[in-house]
Amino acid sequence: MELSFPEGFLWGAAGSAHQIEGNNVASDLWAMENRPGSVMPERSGDACDSYHRWGEDLDIVRGLGLTAYRFSIEWARVEPAEGQVSLAALAHYRRMIEGCLERGLTPVVTLHHFTSPLWFQLAGGWSSAEAVARFRRYVRAVLPILDGVEWVCTVNEPNMLAMVAAIMKRGERGEHGEHGESVAGALPPPDQEMADALAAAHRAAREELGAAGLRSGWTVANQNFEADPGAEAERDAWAWPREDQFLDVAAADDFIGVQAYTRVRIGRRGALPVPDGARRTLMGWEFYPAALGDAVRYTAARLPGVPILVTENGIATADDAERVEYTRGALAGLHGAIADGIDVRGYLHWSLLDNYEWGSYRPTFGLVAVDRETFARTVKPSARWLGAIARTGVLSAGAVHEELSPA
Ligand code: BGC
Repeated sequence: MELSFPEGFLWGAAGSAHQIEGNNVASDLWAMENRPGSVMPERSGDACDSYHRWGEDLDIVRGLGLTAYRFSIEWARVEPAEGQVSLAALAHYRRMIEGCLERGLTPVVTLHHFTSPLWFQLAGGWSSAEAVARFRRYVRAVLPILDGVEWVCTVNEPNMLAMVAAIMKRGERGEHGEHGESVAGALPPPDQEMADALAAAHRAAREELGAAGLRSGWTVANQNFEADPGAEAERDAWAWPREDQFLDVAAADDFIGVQAYTRVRIGRRGALPVPDGARRTLMGWEFYPAALGDAVRYTAARLPGVPILVTENGIATADDAERVEYTRGALAGLHGAIADGIDVRGYLHWSLLDNYEWGSYRPTFGLVAVDRETFARTVKPSARWLGAIARTGVLSAGAVHEELSPA
């Protein structure tokens, strides 16, 4: 059986600055990783050295036959000290955008992917009354280099950011999670002050981008909250603060970025653990390829008329054949959603490289392996498999081992 994707559908891979560039020294995360007694098992350090090797990365993307590349601009590099804009950093990111365009790749550019400048954090972060104005000023600084970019993501996973902020605030107060919140993928409700600030920052960014004729949206972590029988009301109450309110912000946006990896089941008393014996990924999440199709359908129902771009989907696994198996299932689900009339413009796999997974290099999401000492890139069979789909626009239902054997 063959599943054909629409003409002009974007096929790509994604990454984010802090996770791949290396030495993001002016950022808040760098400070957190490097402070004495840091709880993070590993530091980002040189990461994949993509700040210097981005050309090689883009050559790999093009060589595979993919047509899009998602990356982020690092605010801490553009504005390492408050009000001090680095023209060299802007020129660097402009070269990357042009590097994409020259190779025929569609750049998908994220303006904020989890990290902020340390000065911003020290000045109150998103809780400061100045936060939105500061973000707007950064977006204005970046505007001149975005010429030719058709997809601008303002903030990556604001819901995840605000949920992590809630955990950190609790930690500072010495409190522990409530029932059901300690299970993989299930997080406490977001810090609402931060959720509101991020929504305001998103709107401010969209005003600036729109005035410059640029199309923009944000990307939401879709967690596929599924009600256990009889727990429908609890599911809705769980999903609203963690996901739905962030989707609703995008009701009039140019697009919505869907990011999905797994599902979280909700019972009468909150999130349920992944069942014993269920297959799990290196993140501890349930292996659940249907997550993508489900997330796309959910998003489309909540945001009728807003085009969807899959800005992230993938799996942390040491077994590359499992990556193909997962992605095949995800793409089959995505195809079903498109066949039902949902307007999906492209699929960006997370991630291009085995990169820094926010504290550790162990969960390998990459289509491409990176030697931790030489930074040499090694393309995995899954990357070639995805590239073949991109070239033909067709997902065939052949056996995984046949597709992975060398041509
Ligand atoms: C983030 C990525 C992260 C990925 C896998 C998303 O939450 O945007 O930065 O690496 O999921 O955890």
